[in-house]
Amino acid sequence: MRYPEEIVEEVRLRNDIVDVIGSSVRLTRKGSSYFGLCPFHNEKSPSFSVSPSKQIFYCFGCGVGGNVISFVMKYENYTFSEAVKFLADRAGIKLPEVEYTKEQKERENKRLRILEANREAATYFYYNLRGRDGQAGLNYLKGRELSEETMKKFGLGFSLMQPDDLVKHLRSKGFSDEEIRESGLATFDEKRGLTDKFWNRVMYPIQDINHRVIAFGGRVMSDAKPKYLNSPETMVFDKSRNLYGLNFARTSRKDHFILCEGYMDVIAMHQAGFTEAVASLGTAFTPGQATILKRYSHDVYLAYDSDGAGRKAALRAIEILRSSGMSGKVINMTPYKDPDEFIKALGTEEFQKRIDEAENSFFFELRMEEENFDLSDPDGRTRFLKVAAEKLVAFEDEIERESYITAVAKKYSVSYESLKNQVVSLAARNGGEYKPIEKPKPTDFSKADREDAGLVSQRLLLTWLCEQPSLYEQIKDHIKLTDFTDPVYQKVAEWLFKDIEEGTVNPGAYVSRFEDEEEQAVCAAVFNTKLSEIEGEETSEKAFGDIVYKVKKNSIDVLGRKPDQSVEEMMAVLNAKKELEELKKVTYRVSQ
Ligand code: GTP
Ligand code: MN
Repeated sequence: MRYPEEIVEEVRLRNDIVDVIGSSVRLTRKGSSYFGLCPFHNEKSPSFSVSPSKQIFYCFGCGVGGNVISFVMKYENYTFSEAVKFLADRAGIKLPEVEYTKEQKERENKRLRILEANREAATYFYYNLRGRDGQAGLNYLKGRELSEETMKKFGLGFSLMQPDDLVKHLRSKGFSDEEIRESGLATFDEKRGLTDKFWNRVMYPIQDINHRVIAFGGRVMSDAKPKYLNSPETMVFDKSRNLYGLNFARTSRKDHFILCEGYMDVIAMHQAGFTEAVASLGTAFTPGQATILKRYSHDVYLAYDSDGAGRKAALRAIEILRSSGMSGKVINMTPYKDPDEFIKALGTEEFQKRIDEAENSFFFELRMEEENFDLSDPDGRTRFLKVAAEKLVAFEDEIERESYITAVAKKYSVSYESLKNQVVSLAARNGGEYKPIEKPKPTDFSKADREDAGLVSQRLLLTWLCEQPSLYEQIKDHIKLTDFTDPVYQKVAEWLFKDIEEGTVNPGAYVSRFEDEEEQAVCAAVFNTKLSEIEGEETSEKAFGDIVYKVKKNSIDVLGRKPDQSVEEMMAVLNAKKELEELKKVTYRVSQ
C-alpha cells in the first residue's frame, strides 16, 4: 500500500526536518547544519547531522541517513505508510482514504497487539528478576559472570514459578485471551485454560533489528530438560528471518559478523566487546538469515561449538553462506566448548587472536573430510584427494578454483599438475564439455581502490553541484549521466540535473524515491560529504577540476574494462579519451 508521490512530497515539505528531529534529539547549530548525539547508535560526541537546507539527516558515525520520513520510520519503528500518516497528522494534512479490506485491518491490529504483549511481558520479566522472587534468576546470571550493564542491555528477565502469573498480568493490562494465546506467551488447554509458557526460567527477549521484542528464549537454571524453551512462531516471530543480537551487531561498525550457536555466547561476546556477534534462534542457520546478514557484511566468522554437533552445524552454515555468495571462516575454540567458555577461561585478547587466525572455510571442510580417511595409507590418501578434487570442481570462478588447487596441492604435498588433471577430468565428466582452465592472471589489487576513488569523486561532484548549482552549466557538456557508474549516484545525478535545469534543488525529495533502506542511506550520504575534506591547500578551481576529471577518467576505465566490447563501445572509449584530454584544459569558476 503506497500513497501517491505528490502526497508524500507534500507531507515531507510540510514537516521541517529540524523541527521533527529536534523534538526527540537535542540539536545544536554548527554552521549551516545542526548536530546531536545519534539516536541510532551509542556515542559520546555528536556525529549526527541535520541539514535544514537539504532537509536530510546523516550520521557520520554509523552511516544512517535519510529524509524526515526515513527518520520517523527508524525512530518510531514505523513502516513507510505509518510514518507518512504520522507526519501528515502532525502537519494537519488529511490523507486520502486508503481502502483496507476488513481482514487486512484486523490482521494489522492483531500484529500490533502481539508486539505490545511481548513488550509488556519483557517489562514484567525484567522487574521479576530484580524483585524478591527473582533472586534465583539473578544469582544464576551473576554466576555466569554477566554484569548488571549486560543484563540491562539484553533486557534479561525472569519468569516466576507460578502457572499463570503472566497471563493474569497481561489480562490486567487489557489483553484479550485470544491475543495472549496468539502471542505465544501462553498455551491453552480445555482443562486448565491459559497457562504461562515460561515458568521459573531466566528469560532472554528476542528482538528484531528495530529493538522490538518479538519472542523469548527461556533457560532453566539447572540441568533439567529442555534446557531452552523458545516462543513458538507467531505473526511477529519468524525464526528463520531473525538473528539474536543483530539489533546491536548491525551497528557494531566491524567489517564482519561472528555467528555463534547460543544466546549465552552472543551475550558473553558482546560483554567482552565483540559486538559483532549474532546467533541463529535455537535452530540451524538458514538461507533467510544469510540474506539478512549479507545486507550488512559479506564476511561471517563461525564460532560454533567445538564438539561433533557444532562442527556439523558449521559445515551446514558454510554451505549456506557459500550459496548466498558470502564468505565464511571458522574460529577454532579448542580446547573449550564455546565462545562463552573460551572467553571466561582465556580472555578477550586470546579470542581476538583466534579471530585473526580463523580458518578459511574450504580448508575447514577439507580438514573435516580428512577424518574419514587414513592419510598415511596410499589408498586412503588417493581417495581423500579425489574427494578434494570433487570439492574443487564446485568453484565456478576459474581464478578462485586455480588458487585453491594451488593451495590444496601445497598443503597436501601433491603435484599441482596431477591435482589439476584430476579436477579437469572430473569437470569434463560432470559437465560433458571439457573446458581448459586458464593460468591465473595476477590479481590487480589496485582495481578495488581505483573504483572506490571513482565512487568518491562521483559523490563529491554531486555534493558540489548541490551546493553550487551554477557549476552545472560548466560541466554539463562534459559529464553524462552514464559517467556515474554507481546506480544510486546515477539516479541522484539524473534528478539533480533535472532540478537544476528547472531552478529548484531539492535533495530531500530524492531519498523517498528509493525503496530500499540501504539505498536511502547511500543517497543521504551523497549530500553529506564534507567538501572541506578535499579542498585542503588547493584552490577550489583546481579541486573541482580534479573531481570532474576523475569522474570522467573512472567512467572510461570502467567501460574499458568491460569484456567483449562492441565496435561502438570501443569507439566510445576512444572518443571519451579525447574528451578527457580536453577536460584538462578547462578552467572552472568556483565561488569560495
Ligand atoms: P548455555 O548452556 O546457557 O551456555 O547455552 P548456550 O547459549 O551456550 O546454548 P547451547 O550451546 O547449549 O545451545 C545452542 C542454542 O541451541 C541455544 O542458545 C538455544 O537456542 C538452542 N538450544 C539449546 N538447548 C535447547 C533446548 O533444549 N531446546 C531448544 N528449543 N533449543 C535449545
Ligand atoms: Mn554455552
